[in-house]
Amino acid sequence: MSVHASSPKKITTHTLQEMKQNGQKISMLTAYDYSMARIVDEAGIDVILVGDSASNVMAGHETTLPITLDQMIYHASSVVRAVQRSLVVVDMPFGSYQGNSKEALSSAIKIMKESGGHAVKMEGGQEILESIRRILTAGIPVMGHLGLTPQSIYKFGTYVVRAKEEEEAARLIADAKALEEVGCFAIVLEKIPADLAARVAQMVQIPVIGIGAGAGVDGQVLVIHDMLGINNEFNPRFLRKYNNLHAHMLQAFQDYKADVQSGDFPNVSESY
Ligand code: KIV
Repeated sequence: MSVHASSPKKITTHTLQEMKQNGQKISMLTAYDYSMARIVDEAGIDVILVGDSASNVMAGHETTLPITLDQMIYHASSVVRAVQRSLVVVDMPFGSYQGNSKEALSSAIKIMKESGGHAVKMEGGQEILESIRRILTAGIPVMGHLGLTPQSIYKFGTYVVRAKEEEEAARLIADAKALEEVGCFAIVLEKIPADLAARVAQMVQIPVIGIGAGAGVDGQVLVIHDMLGINNEFNPRFLRKYNNLHAHMLQAFQDYKADVQSGDFPNVSESY
């Protein structure tokens, strides 16, 4: 039975807070288009992230940097049209909030107005606090993102695990506390040691959602193309593949081609 059989109770930022308090784990997946988001919502996934990973998995860019505000809004509005229950969080793309807090606010307002999303996500800690504060004053909920922050890939140089050293771990803890204090409703921690992530989750009262951050956090997020096994070349340690869609899709496309070539498709019952 679908979770929509009776009218679904919408997930809000308050629901997530209650889930943390009750020890219920939060499920989050990315989605970028209407059809996929409908299935994710129907499955009862709590949060749909319209991630700037769309830049990689939808557009084929090497990094998340090229995706634009308008492109994010296009993806987010497609997702919002599909969703009945999930909370839809939209990534603020690179360049839309780092400049100054006024620009950050107008980018966040544009996302909320034009996509219908329910919240925004921003990468960074104390260096973007002023922008987060300003966005929050407009009543827009903000999810933080610390650890491996892909928009800073050219500063890091690689996608290896972050905050393994004492100094970076201390900075991450200070950033997490600052994000909570300023009023973020949740924080994503990406690719950091599991014990550090668990410490952060215990330290802050807001939900902490991990990707490559172990089991001691309040919820998990994966990129949908990765967990479905659409790209068979991406196999990081943290990824659990729930399907091998690459193989299934490849087979389907090859079968279709063979049927077209042989004249088997369409048959009489598939014709008017
Ligand atoms: O853009 C994205 O998909 C993300 C997740 C990896 C958390 O930020």
